[in-house]
Amino acid sequence: MSFPENRPRRLRRTEALRRMVRETTLSVDNLILPLFVCSGKGVRREIGSLPGQFYFSVDQLSREAEVVANLGIPAVMLFGLPERKDAVGSEAWHPEGIVQRAIRAIKKTVPDLVVAADCCFCEYTAHGHCGVILEKKGNQSVVDNDATLENLGRAALAQAQAGADIVAPSGMMDGMIGFLRETLDEAEQQDVILLSYAAKYASAFYGPFREAAASVPSFGDRNGYQMDVANIREAIREVALDVEEGADIVMVKPALPCLDVIGEVRREFDVPIAAFNVSGEYAMLKLAGQKGLLDYDRAMVETLTSVRRAGADLVVTYHAKEAAQLLTGKR
Ligand code: PBG
Ligand code: ZN
Repeated sequence: MSFPENRPRRLRRTEALRRMVRETTLSVDNLILPLFVCSGKGVRREIGSLPGQFYFSVDQLSREAEVVANLGIPAVMLFGLPERKDAVGSEAWHPEGIVQRAIRAIKKTVPDLVVAADCCFCEYTAHGHCGVILEKKGNQSVVDNDATLENLGRAALAQAQAGADIVAPSGMMDGMIGFLRETLDEAEQQDVILLSYAAKYASAFYGPFREAAASVPSFGDRNGYQMDVANIREAIREVALDVEEGADIVMVKPALPCLDVIGEVRREFDVPIAAFNVSGEYAMLKLAGQKGLLDYDRAMVETLTSVRRAGADLVVTYHAKEAAQLLTGKR
């Protein structure tokens, strides 16, 4: 009879021991909460496709921002639902556009809360694509890259001028980081941080978000600009370009289906990495939890910890408030 010489279980015997050898920490400092802002006054309406998440009008949003800040969450990421959509998404760069008003309101109420603004057009265009559609010539992609860059510059500038700390372009346009850095610097907005959605996949897990933002493309799909889920070397090339162009933080999206990508980006680059734990990932846990199929709190902490373990510094997540309550003992 031979008994094991090595006994890893020794270090798992008590919670104190487990705490001592724990390799990954999950802190409220790592969390960014996405928020949806809509027009109107006094609106705080639950989002059908995202149970537990709400649409806020600007006045209600600044109250929510206070709650978020009091939980210790350092940052929010804003998504806007404009009153009117048009062919190019011009409300995205209007000084009185929904997100610009939201940024100013939050900055007035809770100046220390870091405000990131999603910088894309799919919520603002009537066709739901992430940029300008030009008449299709030959083999061109449906969204015109360079015409979209011009508009992204306008939107980023409007967000920066409204007081955004972070501009987060999410449309996967080539050269978007270099173009936006130059645009912001020329306008003396050198301190505005660029968080690039560097490796954003054409994922099925954005479903509840598109429902929430009414941004389902009215024709075609996003496969011509978002990445093929089968690729990882391409993700490294995308991140390398964005780092070269001046991205301050790079994002991998979605999170759980891309833990390997997060790990690879962590090994290859020294910049801070964010991961977007997207709407579909949130909805899966929420609905399974509501059905009693799993322990929601534990599944949430396990999910967020695994994203950190893979190598992400920051996690953009709809779980942020609940996670903060758990982590700080307020629940
Ligand atoms: C817009 C954008 C999307 C998400 C963030 N920014 C949707 C998309 O690309 O269709 C998804 C967020 C989520 O699913 O939670 N470019
Ligand atoms: Zn988009």
